[in-house]
Amino acid sequence: MSNNDQEIQSLRNLIDLYHGDIAVFAEQVFGSILTPKQIEFCEAFRTKRTIAFRGGVGFGKTHAEAIVTWWSLITHDQVQISIFGPSEPQLKGGIYKELQLLYGRMHPSFKDAFDVAATRISRKTNPSSCFAEYRLASGDRPDNARGIHATNNFVLVDEASGIDDEVFTGALLNVLTDPNAKLVLVSNPSKASGFFWRCFNDPDISDQWTHVHGQMNDSPHFNPKTFEQLSKNYGGVTSRQYRVMVLGEFPLSDVDGLIAREFIDAAVANYDEVEPSPTVPVVWGLDPAGAGKDASVLCVRHDNKLLEFHEWRGLEPTALSYKVRDLFEKTPKALRPAIISVDATGLGNGVASNLKDFGLPVHSAIFAGTPTRNPERYSRVRDQLWWEMREWIHSENVGIPNHQKLIEELAVPTYDDNSGKIKLEDKKSIKKRLTGGRSPDYADALAITFAVSKTRYASKYGWSKPIRYDHLQSFE
Ligand SMILES: Nc1ncnc2c1ncn2[C@@H]1O[C@H](COP(=O)(O)OP(=O)(O)OP(=O)(O)O)[C@@H](O)[C@H]1O
Ligand SMILES: [Mg+2]
Repeated sequence: MSNNDQEIQSLRNLIDLYHGDIAVFAEQVFGSILTPKQIEFCEAFRTKRTIAFRGGVGFGKTHAEAIVTWWSLITHDQVQISIFGPSEPQLKGGIYKELQLLYGRMHPSFKDAFDVAATRISRKTNPSSCFAEYRLASGDRPDNARGIHATNNFVLVDEASGIDDEVFTGALLNVLTDPNAKLVLVSNPSKASGFFWRCFNDPDISDQWTHVHGQMNDSPHFNPKTFEQLSKNYGGVTSRQYRVMVLGEFPLSDVDGLIAREFIDAAVANYDEVEPSPTVPVVWGLDPAGAGKDASVLCVRHDNKLLEFHEWRGLEPTALSYKVRDLFEKTPKALRPAIISVDATGLGNGVASNLKDFGLPVHSAIFAGTPTRNPERYSRVRDQLWWEMREWIHSENVGIPNHQKLIEELAVPTYDDNSGKIKLEDKKSIKKRLTGGRSPDYADALAITFAVSKTRYASKYGWSKPIRYDHLQSFE
């Protein structure tokens, strides 16, 4: 072999090595040591077709995208990389700048092989079939994103939360018909709706995506001190900003919910301080579920404090009724509920009547029924109870435990009053927006405790006195 042939051969070997290992590539070509999270993303890029990468700010998403762009250009022939973003300044100042910075740090043996122009990087020997360029994606001009085809057709979308859905559904998804296509969405999860959100949360499509999730502390420059200051600036660990910017979690909702987030946060913060009134009895709220995937949840509320939840899965009404009775009997007399309020809609009906047969103090609330108080104000009992729960939380002197599912379920639902009556968002739509598509079982169980009016029974019964079932109709 001539010297020249030897050089070509060793370059080939090197490229083969890089092809199988993006971390080694990043280190040898750019001197960049990738973080474990960046390596996870690069591996997903190397081996998968559709990748959705969400994360907190500033830990290196854009850097990782720039690395995989250069990796694609160097280790593939017939390759086109299209980079989309919501605005020109964002593209120019973000990923394109990172690509240029990396070009500046590139090992000279590769540097000479590329031209870097204002919006496009191409390989000198084959500029029309081996290049990367950035384009603007917007709902007005989805055409920009149409008709992109190549053997190795890689599309990267930076800040994907900010891009209109039509760009994905009307154009970008089409690239996936090409022989070796990749579609990669990278973003701060700043919106609780839209295509990027659906890639993680819509059960119909989420399993088609490889998910990567990073947090601010995955950053190569992570510093606990700055981190602590930042989280305070964001409004504390339960704030919306903190979720999105630090944890890389989607916000709980896009619009103002029925229950204001700051009051939920305050109720969590108050938990250890609030003192229930000793003259107000404990109430249990029971939201029975069938043997399916939802949980039957029992909420224990003492006046202004949610004490705890009990939950059971996969129980038929009869088995559930026995569990509740056992719990009642196990509970010290002084802490027993004055009333067990049960959502007696559907199969809850059987549970409520079993509990009555056991001689327990039961109140049947019918979620779907007509409101028992202020019927001119609410559409149904469910709206009334959720609204009363809202007022309870907004009263500021209440405590709820730091229970992630409960917090999410309280914060997500919205309402409308266009019809002149208050109407909570319907359950199907709430479920779509809750993690895992579950139903708001914990919040429902708490809401049910409000079916019994505090003033009415508190005046009639001391909470330690036994209660007679035949008086209970008067509590509705
Ligand atoms: N592995 C690394 N080694 C050295 N520097 C890195 C590494 N990863 C990222 N950086 C640098 O850290 C800074 C932040 O990274 P980057 O812009 O990629 O973060 P980001 O997650 O895209 O942030 P944002 O959420 O603001 O878009 C950049 O200056 C980038 O060059
Ligand atoms: Mg970025």
